[in-house]
Amino acid sequence: MKPPWTPGDSEVHARGRDQSELHAAALAVTRERFGNEVFLRGVVEVSNICRENCHYCGMRRDNRQLERYRARFDALAELLVHHRPATITDINIQSGEDPVAARELVLPLVQTLRRETPLGVSVCLGTLAPSITRELQAAGATMYIIKFEVADPVLYRDLEAPGTLEERAGHIRWLNAEGWNVSSGFIAGLPGESADTARRNLEFAAQLPLSGCSVSPFVPGDETPLSSSPAASLDLTLNCMASLRRMRPDWIIPAVSALNIAGPDGGYRRGLRTGANLCTMNLTPESVRGDYLLYKRDRVIMNEARILEALEAEGLQPSPTSLADHFRRDLAMLPA
Ligand code: 5AD
Repeated sequence: MKPPWTPGDSEVHARGRDQSELHAAALAVTRERFGNEVFLRGVVEVSNICRENCHYCGMRRDNRQLERYRARFDALAELLVHHRPATITDINIQSGEDPVAARELVLPLVQTLRRETPLGVSVCLGTLAPSITRELQAAGATMYIIKFEVADPVLYRDLEAPGTLEERAGHIRWLNAEGWNVSSGFIAGLPGESADTARRNLEFAAQLPLSGCSVSPFVPGDETPLSSSPAASLDLTLNCMASLRRMRPDWIIPAVSALNIAGPDGGYRRGLRTGANLCTMNLTPESVRGDYLLYKRDRVIMNEARILEALEAEGLQPSPTSLADHFRRDLAMLPA
């Protein structure tokens, strides 16, 4: 099963015994490659100002009901330098597509974190200009998170996702060529997708130069045009995660917190049994958290206690190595 192996439609839609076998195979591949260790990354959502208009996202520019914020640098730096949970090795600085926040807030924050902490730094800021992207890298950020959302160019356009699908893929390739570790992702179960969309998402991901990929279940977002559409099934989401893992044993695959929404009864822990090897811990200050509206205002926040509880229940441990060091080590092992 060497790359470029990719799964078929039947695998992605498996149920019953086939599905159990798929999930068990994904779990075995994960343990073989990563042992019992799971990466723990904090996330801070630093601005909900967004120039994009994605139909599935509550932060879209047409949502006039949303109070917009940019966090204050001092409060964030204090939180992350002095009061962060001890178990996180990395931080992801995330925002709506807000070039002002990238320059005025994220850039100094990356500099401060690299100077004053051992944290690996990821950013998830949308499609920004080459100059600021290079400044963020020069400041010490090493991972760029940028989802391709859905591999169907027509659906991508109809949902008003950023630019075109082709441009998005081009930007991902550019980031990789610039030396970033790129993690992408897609939304499973979007309204309007067809029976082969999930397989096409996996094939699309396989053709990109990635270090990781996420699968988010579609959640009908509050204050969006899709608010009354049906949510994605947990089965489809978990099958996509499992297929990704079989396809790419070395990728970083997160257990996204929306698994709690798609499967309120243990969805998150099932993600940890289906190929995930990263947990993200929400560190956004409570005062602004409600306004970082990806899907629902009343989302379950994955804090340190909830993550450690889930890990312990699954017999897993936080990785002492950061994602950033993991990839540096990977590079060092390549033949000269
Ligand atoms: N359902 C699932 N995922 C979503 N995202 C945004 N809105 C939704 C939703 N309603 C994901 C997108 C985006 C990332 C920041 O959050 O993949 O790129």
